[in-house]
Formats: sequence, structure tokens, C-alpha cells
Amino acid sequence: MLSIVGVAALLSVLVYKYIYYPRFASPLSKLPTAHPLCSITARWFSRRISQQKELTTLLAAHQKHGPVVRLGPREVSVVSLEGLRDIYTAGLEKHPWYVQIFANYGGTPNLVSTLEHRPHSVQKRMIANVYAKSYIQRSKDLDTLSTGIVLGKFLPLLHEYVNEKTQPDVMSLFQWAGIDFMTAYVFGTAYSTDFLQDKEGREAYFKDRSKIQSFDNSGQDNVVEAVCMQLATDTLAAQTQPQQTDIDGTSPVVFRQLYSQLVQKNKTESGQLSQTDLMKRCASEVLDHIIAAHETFAITSTYVLYRMSLDPALQKRLRAELSALRPSIGLGAAEQALPSAADVDALPLLNGVLLETLRLHAAVPVRQPRVVPEEGIRLHGHYIPAGTTVSSNAYCLHRQPEIFPRPNEWLPERWMAMQDRLQTDSSFPPPEVIRRWFWAFGSGGRMCIGSNFALQVLKLLFASIYTNFETSIIDDEGIEQSESFIAGPVGNKLIVQLHPVE
Ligand code: HEM
Repeated sequence: MLSIVGVAALLSVLVYKYIYYPRFASPLSKLPTAHPLCSITARWFSRRISQQKELTTLLAAHQKHGPVVRLGPREVSVVSLEGLRDIYTAGLEKHPWYVQIFANYGGTPNLVSTLEHRPHSVQKRMIANVYAKSYIQRSKDLDTLSTGIVLGKFLPLLHEYVNEKTQPDVMSLFQWAGIDFMTAYVFGTAYSTDFLQDKEGREAYFKDRSKIQSFDNSGQDNVVEAVCMQLATDTLAAQTQPQQTDIDGTSPVVFRQLYSQLVQKNKTESGQLSQTDLMKRCASEVLDHIIAAHETFAITSTYVLYRMSLDPALQKRLRAELSALRPSIGLGAAEQALPSAADVDALPLLNGVLLETLRLHAAVPVRQPRVVPEEGIRLHGHYIPAGTTVSSNAYCLHRQPEIFPRPNEWLPERWMAMQDRLQTDSSFPPPEVIRRWFWAFGSGGRMCIGSNFALQVLKLLFASIYTNFETSIIDDEGIEQSESFIAGPVGNKLIVQLHPVE
């Protein structure tokens, strides 16, 4: 008899806890759900993710229910400027998911994977200045390494494709360019990768795509981790002979800054970290920069070249804009240097092409999860209790029809001033309004540290292509259908034909 009462009591507790409370009594029970099951289980949404339907499900739910939608018993999605302010500008801490995915070298922390506010901001302050827009635009090192890569390797490689009558796979080409640029800025040109030329090196590095894709950096023989640690070790060794480094190439801008700051911090903390730990901390940090660069460059450029190749008239218009640059970007005798980064940045159509691609095909379109602190928060007037996972995402923010009319169309002009537009009218909000909704790099204290670097280098690479070539599509298997995701351009292969222009 007692055991029947016991079982019944246990059942009631379970029913209350797992069904009645989340469905009827939780403060979240008043929110609309993506599906009725979301109030009692997280499985419904997880299943949509595993079916590669995360983004379309989120968009449909927000279109139906507005800016706040419940995705699970303890998960809420928000798509509004108010939501961005209350979650990201307010500095809510990251979800533990980031540790599992982004900590390298057996759990060694870095910016992306540090959850707590204080250690994160200490580390961010160590390197933020070398990624600031003003620093990047004026950096002699970045100018020198850009000239070397674009005029010495990237454009010659494109001409080689033409001469040999072969066609580049855009994703791979930009992975190589992305890693060469990033490692040169981090470690200096003497100790960077040279994957635009070094076939063997790039094949070894990109051989195990699954490790890069899943950010599986825990293995014993992880090539990606090994390459990064070797570059860091060589760079440090060379730092003890500064004159030689100066002769051999550009400075290791990021590594030098990070290493010296970590050594300084370690001293004030009575040397808690061994030399091996210090190197792991450095390598763990910059490895995320390197992977971020080659994956986001690959995704973004695949879509830029795809969209541009579909529109020869726009290519012509862009070429006319690029022809104003001095010196022009080419391999002629007169062109031994590049135009200034500020001049390239100021080109309105080039800017529109890149921002519109990052809007419609954001390299990181998915939820950026944060955790509600002990005191709870309010979102659009709703109380959200402690421990709830809250997020927004670029995919939905970038498809709000009042902000981005004709949201599914790729229209670079929407980023241009009214007087420069030919195809869109005043019903399209001006750039200063839509910029507030642009979330390709996130926002708040956790916003992408590499955004200025990425924009500057990508603009330069697209400028160098469209000054010298027209592109057309040879093969774009599956590109329109895919839901792009960081480290996920695989399968979105784009093969283009390059046609040199006079
Ligand atoms: C088109 C290129 C890129 C896109 C679209 C992009 C996007 C993003 C986004 C959305 C976040 C925020 C994630 C979150 O809030 O959870 C982020 C963070 C980050 N990104 Fe990027 N990224 C790009 C390029 C780069 C590059 C080149 C670097 C190299 C330095 C980089 C390094 C980082 C780091 C270290 C963080 C973490 C920042 C922090 O937690 O404070 N990213 N990126």
C-alpha cells in the first residue's frame, strides 16, 4: 500500500516538475513557443537542428510570434534591437557550450571559450588594440604583408589558373589566403604559412576537415594544433634575435603583444604559469583567430563570388569604381604597392557587396547563447528567470522586412547612400538605420575581435579580383540550398572561371 502511495507521489512530483510547471507555472509559460512541445522538452528544437532546419525554424517562429519565442523549457530566442541590448550589450555570460567547442590544447582557455566576464575582459584588453580599425588601417606590417600576399602570391596564382586553363575552387582559395594573411599578421611573414604556394603544407593542414569543422582540437595528433604551436615556438625563438626578425619580414604583431602581456600578468601573479602553459595560452588564443579567418573567409568569399558571377553588369560597375584607386591593384611594373586601406574601405559599392553578403549569407548565422544571471532579466516586458538560455541570431535579424525590404534578395545598394543607388528607392531605409541591425559580427563585449581585420582583408582580395578579372560560374552544386554555418562551407563548392580584363 505504502509503495503505491510512494509511486503515486513520485509520479505527481515528476508530472509537476517536467510537465505542469514548465507548461503552466513557469514565468516562461506565457511566451509563445516555436512548437507546443517546446514548453516541456528541448528535444523538439534539437531535432530541427539535427535536420539542418535551425535557421528556417527560427525565422518561421519569429515571423509568426514576434520578437520573443520560447524554444525549450529553459530556452528563449529574441530578435529585436531591444533584445540585443538586454542580452549582449548588458554582457550576459556565455553558455558553457563555448568551452566544449572552442577551448584548444586540451581545454586551454582563450577569448571565445572564456565564459566569465572578468578573465575575458582582461584577455581582450591585451590584444584589442592590434585589431582596432585605426590600428589595422595604419599598420605598416599589415600593409607590407598584404602587398606581398596580393601582388606576390594571390594575383599570380589567379593568372596561373588562367594560363593553365584551370578553374579555382573558391572555398579552398580563400582558406589558403585567409590563413596566410592571419598567420602573417599574428606571427610575422618569416613564420607564417604560405598555403597559396605551399601545396604540400596546405594539403596536410586541411586534410582532416572533420577536425576543423567540429573544432575537435583535443586529439593527440591534431595537425592544426601542431602547426600553430610550431609557428608560435619559432616566432618566440626568433624574438630573442630582433634584428634578424626585422630583416626577414614583418613583426609578429598579435603574438608579440599577447605573449608580452601574458608574461607581464604572470609576473604579477607570482609566476603561476610555466613556460609551457604560457605558450599553450598564446597558441590556444591565436589558433581560434586562424581558424576563424580561414573558415569565415571561405564562406564569405564563396557567396561574394557566387553573387557577383550571377551579375555581369554589377561586376562592370564595381570595376569602374575600382579603377579610381591609385595605384591600381595589378601586376604591371607601375604597381609595386597597394592603394591605402582607407581608400579601399571608402568604396561604396565594394562595401555594399561585402556587407550585403554578410547580411544574407552570414558566416555565423546561428544562435549566440547566453545565460540569464541570478537576478533574472526582462525581455520585452517578460520576466526571464535565472539559468534560462537566451539568444539572438544574425539569420533572423538580417531578414526583418521593415529594415531590409525584399529580404531574400541580394541587393548591395541597400548599404549605399541614396544618391548612389540605381535600383532601389527611398522605401529602403538608409545605411545608418540598417547598420544597427547588422549582426554578422555580434555585438557587445563579446563582439568579434577580428571584424576590422576581416573587412579590410576581404575588401582588398575582392578588389584585386574584380580589378583584374571577370568571373563566371562553372559549378555551384548545392550552394543556394545550404544553411551556411561557421566551418561549414564544405559541400558548398563553387568553381569559377576567371576571365582577365584588359
Ligand atoms: C567574415 C569574418 C568573420 C565573421 C562573420 C565573424 C563572426 C563572429 C561572431 C558572430 C562572433 C561572436 C560570437 C558570439 O558572440 O558568441 C565572433 C567572435 C570572435 N571572432 Fe570573429 N568573425 C569573423 C572573422 C574573424 C577573424 C578574422 C578573427 C581573427 C582575429 C576572429 C576572431 C574572433 C574572436 C577571437 C571572437 C571572440 C571574441 C570574444 O569573445 O571576445 N573572427 N566572430
